[in-house]
Amino acid sequence: MLVLDGKIASAAVKASLLEQTTALKAAGKRTPHLAAILVGTNGASETYVASKVKNCEETGFGSSLYRFEDTVSEAALLAQIEVLNQDTNVDGILVQLPLPKHIDDAKVIEAIDPKKDVDGFHPANVGRLVQGLNTFIPATPYGVMLMLAHFNIETKGKRAVVIGRSNIVGRPMSILLSAEHPQGNCTVTCCHRYTPKEDLIDLCSKADIIVVAVGIPDFVDASMIKPGAVIIDVGITRVIDPTAAKGFRIKGDVNYASAITVASAVTPVPGGVGLMTIAGLLKNTMKAYQGL
Ligand code: GUN
Repeated sequence: MLVLDGKIASAAVKASLLEQTTALKAAGKRTPHLAAILVGTNGASETYVASKVKNCEETGFGSSLYRFEDTVSEAALLAQIEVLNQDTNVDGILVQLPLPKHIDDAKVIEAIDPKKDVDGFHPANVGRLVQGLNTFIPATPYGVMLMLAHFNIETKGKRAVVIGRSNIVGRPMSILLSAEHPQGNCTVTCCHRYTPKEDLIDLCSKADIIVVAVGIPDFVDASMIKPGAVIIDVGITRVIDPTAAKGFRIKGDVNYASAITVASAVTPVPGGVGLMTIAGLLKNTMKAYQGL
């Protein structure tokens, strides 16, 4: 059983990026700069954004964080995005989701210059992804592709099941796995909340690769896994645990202890896909700096 260790795979991506920023600095050039916008005080969002900023520092990137109260108006947010769109020292812009209910996510995403849209959420970039054109791949599915590449996981001709169809993970993941690409060329089935449970079990038990992103701890276990399958766990649910230092633990969508008894490779949580998401974001920011 191979542990698809995100620490190892992300360290390789970050080392390569650090080499590039070190060379840029040595040549007297500026390095890539990521601007992050965080609205409100959602604990998970705070942690993710802090980690993104820290990883920028570790890789020699510049970063700036714009914080807003959760009462901020949509207009104020759009105005900040426009300032960042015009700022030639800013290469990548990300607005951490979710946003408060009074703000229209779609409007905010569409306000970002597609050339600075390092999350790859802008409809222009999603369209480019669907058509197999050069674009920003959303960070989490990008991270999964980088993970598959790092560990030389064969995907061509394999049956892949993606569970979840969100714009952030499931939808782009299913497009990428079916695309003409070294980590693509799979036959992909995308399952979602209306997939009957018996169909889900049947499809999963025939799948060579399962990617699960539903946010339900232990959603997938050994009973649904074909012997030798590759299991990618995108879940990161906080569950209350008074014995943990922070009062909670992070749980994936896969019952890891059960899955490793049948799978050939599994991503751990934490320490798996989460770290690769950051690697994907950093690569996108370098790409924005170089010009899409
Ligand atoms: N919220 C959960 N995942 C993401 C992500 O990849 N990007 C942004 N901006 N927000 C998120």
